[in-house]
Amino acid sequence: MPHESRAALPRYEHLYINGEWVKPLDGELIESIDPATGRPWAIAPMGGRADIDRAVAAARAAFNGPWRRIPGYERAALLRRFADLFSAAIPELAVIESRDNGNLVREHRASLTAQVQWYQWFASLADKAQGTTIPIDDSVHAFTSRVPVGVVGAVIPWNAPLLATCLKIGAALAAGCTLVVKPAEQTPVSALELARLIHEAGFPPGVFNVVPGFGGTAGAHLVMHPDVSKISFTGSTQTAKHMVRDGADNLKRFTFELGGKAPHIIFADADLDNAINAATASAWRLTGQSCALGSRVLVERTVYERVVEAFRTRAHSVRVGLPSIDSNHMGPQAHEAQLKKTLSYIDFGKEDGAELVAGGHRIATPELASGYFVEPTVFAGVNNGMRIARDEIFGPVASLIPFDGEDEAIAIANDTPYGLTAGLWTRDVGRAHRVSSRIEAGMVWVNTYSFLRWSTPYGGFKSSGWGRENGIDALDPYLETRTTVISTTGQFPDLYAS
Ligand code: NAI
Ligand code: MG
Repeated sequence: MPHESRAALPRYEHLYINGEWVKPLDGELIESIDPATGRPWAIAPMGGRADIDRAVAAARAAFNGPWRRIPGYERAALLRRFADLFSAAIPELAVIESRDNGNLVREHRASLTAQVQWYQWFASLADKAQGTTIPIDDSVHAFTSRVPVGVVGAVIPWNAPLLATCLKIGAALAAGCTLVVKPAEQTPVSALELARLIHEAGFPPGVFNVVPGFGGTAGAHLVMHPDVSKISFTGSTQTAKHMVRDGADNLKRFTFELGGKAPHIIFADADLDNAINAATASAWRLTGQSCALGSRVLVERTVYERVVEAFRTRAHSVRVGLPSIDSNHMGPQAHEAQLKKTLSYIDFGKEDGAELVAGGHRIATPELASGYFVEPTVFAGVNNGMRIARDEIFGPVASLIPFDGEDEAIAIANDTPYGLTAGLWTRDVGRAHRVSSRIEAGMVWVNTYSFLRWSTPYGGFKSSGWGRENGIDALDPYLETRTTVISTTGQFPDLYAS
């Protein structure tokens, strides 16, 4: 683009390291693309390896220094102050996040409002990491203490950057860890805005650092860094496998929240109107860019045609358009590579013999043609072996799979390497229990979908992850347990005396 228009873009030139705004040492400035227009909307800094080194050193010094001496109730107070600043910033944050990743401003506003509660929840946990006293006999006093794991590297995806960041930094700061946050290269800006609020809330320098950067350089260097104790990552299963190899040399700790291919099961005895509301919402919300959404819709054969028809009709009532307009239902894909991935899977669906019932194209209207918009898409006649049923697409593509009876529904639901979320619809309470108890997923929703709260543990079975975020145990992944045994007598016999 011409120089004069580049000069007019908002410029984010600095990384946030050790409580200061600094230029990248070995990184670069890039144009961050607005996926609704396909054009740059901001200049953003990408840090390199030397920047990660600086940030890790600052986080380590803060961990060994002032932060360690700050008690839990003061960490809670800092987090609450931050939550208030965050709450006041929601209107701007929603717009910035939308410019970077294309999801609706309206949806971001709702998510950010919930994130305030999330931060309050983490604050409430900050002084409750209690140990236990272990009864043995009166010659010893044995007890456990819960201590922060150290410097945490938070690697953030582009599909819900502020939410993923919230779950990681809220828990890690409450636990007493320090952090280096690496946002995705596609969505570097919102974490820098968070750093501004963290600074204003009064966290000591070095406790929280932000280095946007590319995965293969800044991200990999963070994972390999010997002074980083733990990585908390949300993103693709493939990248998590890389990380395990990269972190092997210093036995890094990991929490992973990874891909999904969630089954959304509709039995014939369900309240079909509500089931269809949930199934269509979860197929297309966030333009399909969430690991939790129900991308495989399993429908009992006796109502299959009815559900297919309902999806066809509903697809035509989805208003795809600019994410800044609150009356729109769906924005663009977050970046060009994701658009291409989705379009290629639509081709795979056709090649593999599925029936394209609705959508299937990039949107070419003059207003939207330069952005990464794709129609809400429905495939019928899908079997679970097809590529559209096996792989995480991350686009607004629903695959409708027929089944006969509970056993087949469960077999299809579990026939996937993933196991993050699942939904099922039935009016039979016995069936709700029977089926949900056999589903291999970290979260099962019955007669609802996408119900997530700060208090509900979240994470995956199988290739969908390691560990859990949220819930009353949300700090666990950021704590080590130290067992201390103190003798009350101090007597220790000489083993070699006779
Ligand atoms: P990705 O997992 O490669 O990227 C996510 C984050 O990891 C980014 O911050 C990236 O810079 C970083 N990263 C990438 N390679 C790294 C490495 N070797 N070491 C350290 N950090 C690294 O995901 P990508 O390639 O952007 O998206 C591909 C697919 O992954 C999507 O189409 C979707 O299916 C899935 N995905 C799932 C997410 C989820 O919520 N579980 C989020 C993002 C992507
Ligand atoms: Mg990748």
